[in-house]
Amino acid sequence: MKITVIGAGNVGATVAQQLAYYELANEVVLVDIAEGIPQGKGLDLLEAMPVLGSDTYVHGTNSYEPTAGSDIVIITAGLARKPGMSRDDLLAANAKIVASCAEQAYAQSPNALFILVSNPLDVMTYLTLRVTKLPRHRVVGMAGVLDTARYRAFIAMEVGCSVEDIQALLMGGHGDSMVPLPRYTTIAGIPLEQFLSKDRIEAIVQRTKDGGIEIVNYLKTGSAYYAPAASTVEMVESIVKNKRRIFPCSALCEGEYGLRDVCIGVPVKLGSAGIEQIIEVQLSDDERALLERSAADVSKNIAKLVELGY
Ligand code: NAI
Ligand code: 2OP
Repeated sequence: MKITVIGAGNVGATVAQQLAYYELANEVVLVDIAEGIPQGKGLDLLEAMPVLGSDTYVHGTNSYEPTAGSDIVIITAGLARKPGMSRDDLLAANAKIVASCAEQAYAQSPNALFILVSNPLDVMTYLTLRVTKLPRHRVVGMAGVLDTARYRAFIAMEVGCSVEDIQALLMGGHGDSMVPLPRYTTIAGIPLEQFLSKDRIEAIVQRTKDGGIEIVNYLKTGSAYYAPAASTVEMVESIVKNKRRIFPCSALCEGEYGLRDVCIGVPVKLGSAGIEQIIEVQLSDDERALLERSAADVSKNIAKLVELGY
């Protein structure tokens, strides 16, 4: 298993560290345009392996040749938002970066599965499908695992229980219109409503929607990376071990939920082939309306890709 991580910044380097720590690959290649950064971080990580007891070979580069033959390519390259910015403000700059990274990585690894992290996530997932022309099961975006992790962390704090016992589902785009689904949230199989009042659930849902900006406002110079990296690595593990776990991920819908030609967060089964299935859960009229509104927001941004020439 060879995994390339493009972007050796906060998210990319943390992903590489965890991939190596959990020995999810024999080889991890870090790629970045910043000279010396991927080489330095790669070597530093390699030197940590004897202490961690991992034989993963980690190295960094500014070119794509060393990535040849990767099984998985993870794209984290691009600008992160700062206070006052929305994820959508990154669209034009990150489209240029992601399109170039996806094209170059695909040329070296035509059989790879692509995991997108760069924002705006759903649009960058769509853009990668467009530039690589890969089938939809081989391009997947990470956002729902992160948003659900935040939601689960907040519920566990409020209820005073283990995060491990919380099962939750969150759909829609990775933005203000994301769609948490308290109706599909349980603690040890018991519906969330039996633990928390409607008002408290609504407050947690709102904090989840604002989860990204809450961290940006603390950090001021960038955005979250520990939880995003852990979420990405959880997806990789399901692929590498063919666990076929079901996660909310950004995937191209071709009729599912009545949506077409849009990448958006939906529950998917992730295995060694990538997206094995998009699962269509039953939604109430209100939930469906929220999902459609979220998809319309993403579609508006996808249309901007055309204006930008993609
Ligand atoms: P960062 O600024 O720490 O790292 C980004 C790296 O990308 C930098 O090292 C930069 O040199 C590199 N880069 C820029 N252009 C490049 C190119 N053409 N080729 C290769 N590398 C290039 O940012 P961070 O925190 O790692 O975030 C990365 C991206 O991930 C951002 O767009 C951020 O918004 C997004 N993100 C998405 C999340 C999600 O849930 N989908 C969660 C967290 C971050
Ligand atoms: C987040 O939600 C930056 O999208 C990223 O933290």
